[in-house]
Amino acid sequence: CGIVGYAGPKSAVDVVVDGLRRLEYRGYDSAGVCVVAGGRLALTKRAGKLANLEKALSDAPLPVSGLAIGHTRWATHGGPTDTNAHPHASANGRVALVHNGIIENFAQLRAELAADGIVPVSQTDTEIAAHLLGQAVTTGVGLTEALRIVCNRLEGAFTLVAVDVDQPDTVVAARRNSPLVVGVGEGENFLASDVAAFIEHTREAIELGQDQVVTITPTSVEVITFDGEPATVHPYHVSWDLSAAEKGGFDWFMRKEIYDQPKAVADTLLGRHDASGALRLDEIRIAPEELRAVDKIIVIACGTSFYAGMVAKYAIEHWTRIPCEVELASEFRYRDPIVGPTTLVVSISQSGETADTLMAIRHAREQKAKVLAICNTNGSTIPRESDAVIYTHAGPEIGVASTKGFLTQLVACYLLGLYLAQVRGTKFSDEIALLIDELDKIPAAIERQLGDLDGVLQLAADFADAPSVLFLGRHVGYPVALEGALKLKELAYIHAEGFAAGELKHGPIALIEDQLPVFVVMPPPGRDLVHDKVISNIQEIRARGARTIVLAEEGDEVAAPYADVMITLPKVPTLLQPLVAIVPLQVFACELATRKGHDVDQPRNLAKSVTVE
Ligand code: G6P
Repeated sequence: CGIVGYAGPKSAVDVVVDGLRRLEYRGYDSAGVCVVAGGRLALTKRAGKLANLEKALSDAPLPVSGLAIGHTRWATHGGPTDTNAHPHASANGRVALVHNGIIENFAQLRAELAADGIVPVSQTDTEIAAHLLGQAVTTGVGLTEALRIVCNRLEGAFTLVAVDVDQPDTVVAARRNSPLVVGVGEGENFLASDVAAFIEHTREAIELGQDQVVTITPTSVEVITFDGEPATVHPYHVSWDLSAAEKGGFDWFMRKEIYDQPKAVADTLLGRHDASGALRLDEIRIAPEELRAVDKIIVIACGTSFYAGMVAKYAIEHWTRIPCEVELASEFRYRDPIVGPTTLVVSISQSGETADTLMAIRHAREQKAKVLAICNTNGSTIPRESDAVIYTHAGPEIGVASTKGFLTQLVACYLLGLYLAQVRGTKFSDEIALLIDELDKIPAAIERQLGDLDGVLQLAADFADAPSVLFLGRHVGYPVALEGALKLKELAYIHAEGFAAGELKHGPIALIEDQLPVFVVMPPPGRDLVHDKVISNIQEIRARGARTIVLAEEGDEVAAPYADVMITLPKVPTLLQPLVAIVPLQVFACELATRKGHDVDQPRNLAKSVTVE
């Protein structure tokens, strides 16, 4: 969900709705806003996209106010209806609040409220918190103290942002395990799930820690802990500007972000090696001797980031000879994994806020493992709670389906693998320098790919009505196949699956029927046996009527005769091939979804940053 709060001289509704628009990628099944004006709460909320709320506000404007809170929702408890949309007001009309997260003990709290004669009107867990807060303020303690008391009764993950009719210049917020940042302006202050919501007004921000309550007025920001003690805060300056979070002439953020990839990859490499090709990862604040002692690496992540982790395994094991596992963050801590002080846990998260990943790294740290985060969002929770971080420098990624986030995660994984090889001496420095040199050539290679997309665009036209599409790959081509299929599922709502090409014959080949489109990611020819094996796999599916779209390195004469359609990839070392092989698949999914008339940036049922487990 996306949350915004504002206290200042401007029209608070406008500020909050603008902020919600920039946060809409975090959830878009309903939205609402509440102001305090004339000693009462005024509230408008609507199911559906933010546009529905905007229309309602223009039909019936809320009273002018300098104080507002707003919310854009990704439903957890209760479907996306007007009633379930946030903000929720207390039964006594004193307070209203918005919430991101899940209140796990809500059933018990609801029973307590029922005993007091309070019957919720919505199906949400959030409304329970609103009633509790409404009761707490009537004891005369003030909104900040009331929210602190309520938070101590809640279990689960939450960010709450609340207003009280008796304090018309104050917004109070609290956070546990869900994101919240403060924007510090001149004569105005902001609260939001991320800085994109207020970057137009101020670039000065404050990170909030776990279990803290923040109170803003137009001229003050005060932070206390859930125990009521003053808290230390970390102010920071946001380096990117508004244009980085805008579409820049493209129809979709996603398309823009695909075209951002050469720069994103170059920026992620920038300053991380010297002219001789030696890696400089000073930001890894784990001592070299500790890195030399590592005897196991576990990569944990979700979604697209998980596929980046699968590629990392191939590279890291090959370069460092350290056993490397990859695991879905949501599974990790529930299986009693073997983790200890010599385990390096690498978490990969574009947003740095994914709850599954956050909980997994907390578990790893409890077992004394070192945790290194690969993350795109400065100051987010996962890097803050890790021992070290390699930031990807993709810039803000707004399209819900990850593109430049994925590519820069791959780059960070390669840098980490090579750095470990350098520190542990498992590769000669000239070999590392050679690979760095190859990485440095990737932005230009992607640039060339993006200049020659006619074939892929034609494919999207040809396959717009395909009911199902398969993707095959081997070695690092396997995670590329999985990611290619995920893009198509996310955006085009087409049944799509990725398989290890060699596994197909063990079952999934039964799916092949006449004219079924099958994308095959060919490894570069010549290096080893894998290329020949994939050729055999293509023959197996062609014999059963599939239409093959083969992604193969330019000049791959062996693969060409097996392709109904050929998409050529630039020549790069095998382990780096995912960086170029995924690009046509991203474009294919984006284009196909556009042709089907879908909202590419905000696919149905998804949210960019999933802050609940
Ligand atoms: C959500 C998004 C995916 C993303 C995944 C992990 O499900 O819709 O696109 O890959 O979260 O996100 P993270 O921010 O942790 O990389």
